[in-house]
Amino acid sequence: MSFKTFFQSIILVAFWAPVIAFAQGSHPVSLSQNTQAKSSGKPISKDLFGVFFEDLSYAADGGLYAELVQNRSFEYSASDRKGWNPLTGWEYTTEGYGYGTISVESGLPVNHNNPHYVVLNIDDPGQQGVGVTNLGFDGITIKSGERYNFSVYVRQISDKPIPMQVQLRGNKGAIYGTFSFETQSRQWKKYSGVILANQNADSARLTIVATQKSKLAIDEVSLFPQNTFKNEANGLRADLAQAIADLHPKFMRFPGGCLVHGDGLDNIYRWKNTIGPVENRQQQRNIWSYHQSVGLGFYEYFRFCEDIGAKPLPVVAAAVSCQNSGGTWAIGSTGQKALSMADMRGYIQDILDLIEYANGPVTSTWGAKRTIAGHPKPFHLQYIGIGNEDAQTDQFRERFKMIYDAVRAKHPEITIIGTVGPSPSGKDYDQGWNLADNLSVPVVDEHFYEKPEWFLRNNNRYDTYRRQNSQVYIGEYASWGNTMANALSEAAFMTSLERNGDIVRMASYAPLLANLNHTSWNPNLIYFDNKTMVQTVNYYVQQLFSTNQGDTYIPNKIEFINNKAGKDSTLAASCVKDNKTGDIILKIVNAGSNPAPAKIALTDFNISEKKASVKILKGNPDDKNTIVQPGNITPASTSISFAELEHYIAPAYSLSIIRFTARDH
Ligand code: AHR
Repeated sequence: MSFKTFFQSIILVAFWAPVIAFAQGSHPVSLSQNTQAKSSGKPISKDLFGVFFEDLSYAADGGLYAELVQNRSFEYSASDRKGWNPLTGWEYTTEGYGYGTISVESGLPVNHNNPHYVVLNIDDPGQQGVGVTNLGFDGITIKSGERYNFSVYVRQISDKPIPMQVQLRGNKGAIYGTFSFETQSRQWKKYSGVILANQNADSARLTIVATQKSKLAIDEVSLFPQNTFKNEANGLRADLAQAIADLHPKFMRFPGGCLVHGDGLDNIYRWKNTIGPVENRQQQRNIWSYHQSVGLGFYEYFRFCEDIGAKPLPVVAAAVSCQNSGGTWAIGSTGQKALSMADMRGYIQDILDLIEYANGPVTSTWGAKRTIAGHPKPFHLQYIGIGNEDAQTDQFRERFKMIYDAVRAKHPEITIIGTVGPSPSGKDYDQGWNLADNLSVPVVDEHFYEKPEWFLRNNNRYDTYRRQNSQVYIGEYASWGNTMANALSEAAFMTSLERNGDIVRMASYAPLLANLNHTSWNPNLIYFDNKTMVQTVNYYVQQLFSTNQGDTYIPNKIEFINNKAGKDSTLAASCVKDNKTGDIILKIVNAGSNPAPAKIALTDFNISEKKASVKILKGNPDDKNTIVQPGNITPASTSISFAELEHYIAPAYSLSIIRFTARDH
């Protein structure tokens, strides 16, 4: 079974399993049961709720990265995916009786990192020219009246300047927008222009033709909407980026996941390959069986974090590849491989250079590169992750320690996050924690993809965690599905993260984005196609928590009347205070089928308002948001008097967020 097939089989099992009924677990979730919390309240990590981004399911190319041309630099190959080649996504265009030849060459490239380009030898341009047409990612979606930035590198091989036509085309010869230029150089030269779209279209194509007998080379063909997130060049798709921004994440982890440690040693993600001019970046195959243009690279990740007010959390491989390299049980599986000791010095230097790239002064080598990219100010990197759910082998441990020691010695100001395997328990988890204990790693990264019942049953997981050692970053978690039942199980669990916000420093649902036509992992937080996107109910749970986080947990304020013994795991709640605003925020989760009366200890608060604001997310357990349409489940806003709130009844299958201001609590 290949790596991808292995994961797909997990997805299928998760998706086709019968609807999962909630278990009535044996662990108390009533706030009054939490022995950890003191009545005065306890601080919650400022960085508790963030996001995890991985280029999985076309999350970057064909997704968040707004480039509309697929395989823009002719670097696709069969190593990305069987059957792919440098002309995948392209057609040779010889309408109007033109003819000539097309070839893919690599003798004199724009940059040696981007070796392939197309050579057109046009014998007769016919009436409409001869050239190439890009099909986009499942077509190119354009909007009437919007402007698109086009660019291309051309090297004129024949003597005379060559007139070129660029067209956004539809079916049956429809032209949606044009741009023309004439080549001026026998060296590689970038030509740019703006195309104004005169139609809405879902499946436009981009055609570039030479209209004279000539020979020329073409590379790095690009088309971006001007309307990117914050109108940035080499930017992000505005609606997807905004949806992530609307989560108000306190941090963003990037670039993954398994993508970080890669499918074999030569596939380990190397951040230095992803910065600088896009045409010079070194592209690579994606562990999820496609291609990474790395147009969305580390500069763009840092910039996006800054744009949305999220702390950047880059994760680097611990100098070992993914243990599933070559497929989990497949013939040809290579398992975890480690960089040689001879390579470690350079590898560690790359990680130190990353910190300099993010934070170093403009006068430093890597700070200067950040400055050239357009950002003289530092990106204020505070966290770095080393390793991703790696098998805890001797070779891993040895390399992790080498990196850990070097980063600590040179950058004691950086908080290092270690890794404790892919599951919430087991050998790698135990050994990972042992290593963290031995090295006093400040934070470790736990992962769990589990059934909803697990999240309900494990509401008390962190109540009794040892608190003298590492803190926890739950770097990846999700219950297996996108229904209301799944989302509410996550919500219930998240109340426990607030309750334990002293030891659980950070948490991020995973994965974040999936292209509906190229989904290789389910569930995800946001699904999209070229035109639109779907915010799942899980998304709204994340948003309701992250926008109502607070900084202090206040115990013993909410009691479920019918759950005095605390045995009903479908009920969970938390009470937090946001000291900046003085707001008290109650989160009440009822993942069960009956309305749940709860007593709220309001007399403890000095309230001057008449009503509290309420946001409710509710539905049936099987409900899910599929395509954007009326009827999708979104949080509803209302208000409630304090007399009613004192005896609040949490509707069946709901998450309630109740907010009011209390003076001097
Ligand atoms: O989130 C999807 C994958 O799950 C990540 O790449 C990996 O870290 C985990 O196994």
